[in-house]
Amino acid sequence: MKKIIPAAIALLLVCLISISCYATEGMWLPQLLQSLNEKDMKKQGMKISAADIYNINHGSLKDAIVSLGGFCTAEVISNSGLILTNHHCGFDAIQNHSTLEHNYIRDGFWSTNNSEELTNKGLTATFIIRIADVTDSILQNTQGLSESARLAAIDRNMAAYAKTIAKETFQDILIKPFFEGNKYFLFVTETYKDVRLVGAPPSSIGNFGKDTDNWMWPRHTGDFSLFRIYADKNNQPAPYLADNVPYKPKKALNISLDGVSENDFTMVMGFPGRTTEYLHSAAVAQIMNVTNPAKIAIRSKILSTMKEYMVQDEQIKIQYAAKYANVENAYKKWQGEILGLKSKNGIGKKKLYEADFQKRVMANPEWASKYGTLLNDLEKAYAGIEPQALARDIHNETLVRLEIIAIGSQFNSLIGALDKNGLNGYNTSKAKVMDVLSDLYNEYNAKVDKALFVSLLSLYMKTMKQENIAPALKDLVARNNNDMQAAASELYSKSSLSDSSLVFSWLGLPAEEAIKRIKNDDAIRLVQDFQKMYADKINAGIPALQANINILQRQYMQAQIAVFKEKSFYPDANSTLRVTYGNAKGYAPRDGVQYTMYTYLDGVMEKYVPGDYEFDVSPKLQELYKAKDFGAYGAAGRQPVCFIASNHTTGGNSGSPALDAYGNLIGLNFDRVWEGTMSDINYDPSICRNVMVDIRYVCFIIDKFAGAKNIISELKFVHPKQAPIRK
Ligand code: ARG
Ligand code: GLU
Repeated sequence: MKKIIPAAIALLLVCLISISCYATEGMWLPQLLQSLNEKDMKKQGMKISAADIYNINHGSLKDAIVSLGGFCTAEVISNSGLILTNHHCGFDAIQNHSTLEHNYIRDGFWSTNNSEELTNKGLTATFIIRIADVTDSILQNTQGLSESARLAAIDRNMAAYAKTIAKETFQDILIKPFFEGNKYFLFVTETYKDVRLVGAPPSSIGNFGKDTDNWMWPRHTGDFSLFRIYADKNNQPAPYLADNVPYKPKKALNISLDGVSENDFTMVMGFPGRTTEYLHSAAVAQIMNVTNPAKIAIRSKILSTMKEYMVQDEQIKIQYAAKYANVENAYKKWQGEILGLKSKNGIGKKKLYEADFQKRVMANPEWASKYGTLLNDLEKAYAGIEPQALARDIHNETLVRLEIIAIGSQFNSLIGALDKNGLNGYNTSKAKVMDVLSDLYNEYNAKVDKALFVSLLSLYMKTMKQENIAPALKDLVARNNNDMQAAASELYSKSSLSDSSLVFSWLGLPAEEAIKRIKNDDAIRLVQDFQKMYADKINAGIPALQANINILQRQYMQAQIAVFKEKSFYPDANSTLRVTYGNAKGYAPRDGVQYTMYTYLDGVMEKYVPGDYEFDVSPKLQELYKAKDFGAYGAAGRQPVCFIASNHTTGGNSGSPALDAYGNLIGLNFDRVWEGTMSDINYDPSICRNVMVDIRYVCFIIDKFAGAKNIISELKFVHPKQAPIRK
């Protein structure tokens, strides 16, 4: 027994620092695959080369992948600019086109030709043309500067450098920090601004299982929707115009209907949003024990309050559906994160890694003088920021959900605009404010908002330190005998902000008159007091503390790369294009439980609850199931629905293509398993799995369920072994 423990620790250490054990961890940069990953990818079964994935001389897989609106990923699947993404990524668009008469959320939407496709204000699709390492140019003359001077110099360097880049007028340039600011990469991009809705299944398919099944395996959701990119006559980006034409891609993905088997190579390409894999264990402990629990408690109140009203009223259900799903999503994810960090001993693993780091640093005099105190300093810095980080999280989580505060902030910004930039400034701001307000009011219900005010601010008053609470809120509550319900009634009846037509009429008045009314509104005065308290107290010390943490984390990143020479490092996700690869396989979430990697339509029927909000199944789908009418999309008499693999993904990877060893589309990424959501902080190959809807289910729904043959006829199906890649 005695011998086993050190051996186990040694093995764990080897796994922590070598890529062979954690071959599936990592969100890799496409332009570096050739030098860093190609060998390993081929060893794991990839049949194409890194140059088929990223190539700036001719169409490669990267040319089929777009960032959808900056929040999701989508991929080109036809030569007429058809793109595939998740239902939950297209949800806002689907919701905006839905009314009680044309309820596309409930019933789905299928265009039968281009003229029926629906336009979506503000929705964009961005291609990556090329990526380059520009670190030397961006970091020149920044050595030895204070943090703020360094950032200012970097901004100047970026602006100057961007001017030297040769690019087409319709292209954009983006320069971003990687590895905590140790590296800078340049992206030349093309953003298409006319993206139209082509098709979406009813939410009983696209969001089957809703919040109960969200983040869960086994899963049975057909989480997809279809859009089309439109371009001008030269195939270049253009604002919406009726006579724009379908975009002709450099590359469209081929679709394989062959599926994958256990341990087969899979790869996901997309735009993961944010991870923090290189934190100090003290920072991980803070997330796990302090900030996540506080945010979870607030969201639990938001959800129960919204639900109370949503179940009673169909109109409120439509208005609040997206907000509810949004709040629930991170609420559940954070709980899984805590669970996974605990079950896989995330803190313990980080501590072992840190011990090894420290030992290596101290064994080398140069490192010892440079990095010897780093871990200690980081630990202190995280302890130092904790009370304020917590207060800020509580404040932001609470106030962002109160619509009356959001509306008030919009009006308040007009006061600032008039003060600062006179009538011109006021008028420019007014146009923007009216836009935002009409969106806000579309999804606003005063009854629900007031109930949220009562439940959230009651919790706020209990959890916030007295000194951080805005005096105007304290006064409001005190003069209502500490009864939050009465306080809310006073505010919502005195303030005019719940009455959209009244406040829009203010904006028709001369500026001075409008401002007089705005300044007099109770809710706006409350907003001002909240903002003042945030600036003066809650957030006051944070920028300096955070700057110090940023410096330390940057040094720590640099030190890890220097010290663990044998390890390949990948940069944290930052919404840039990445490739992650792994193997299709099930997992064991806990003792005695083993999950398999595929689910089938049989499972949809097992979960079916007639008339249920989450688990209803449409009669048409039931008929197809009974008749086993799966067309070309079934496998051995069953219809595959979802599958999982060990690809390292995160939020933003929604809508990312899952590709087989040949680069053919086999699925659509939409989630991760609950037990493994801590992969954003500490990936563990034994339980971290990404969840994909099988492309055969997507095609089955389009073809057999919706009868949208027009869409099917645009797709190109291949047999991987015969025609690996469409050049
Ligand atoms: N968990 C997935 C993601 O992070 C899906 C979210 C949408 N679905 C939902 N039921 N809220 O985005
Ligand atoms: N559903 C997530 C998204 O919207 C992807 C799941 C994840 O966080 O991995 O991007």
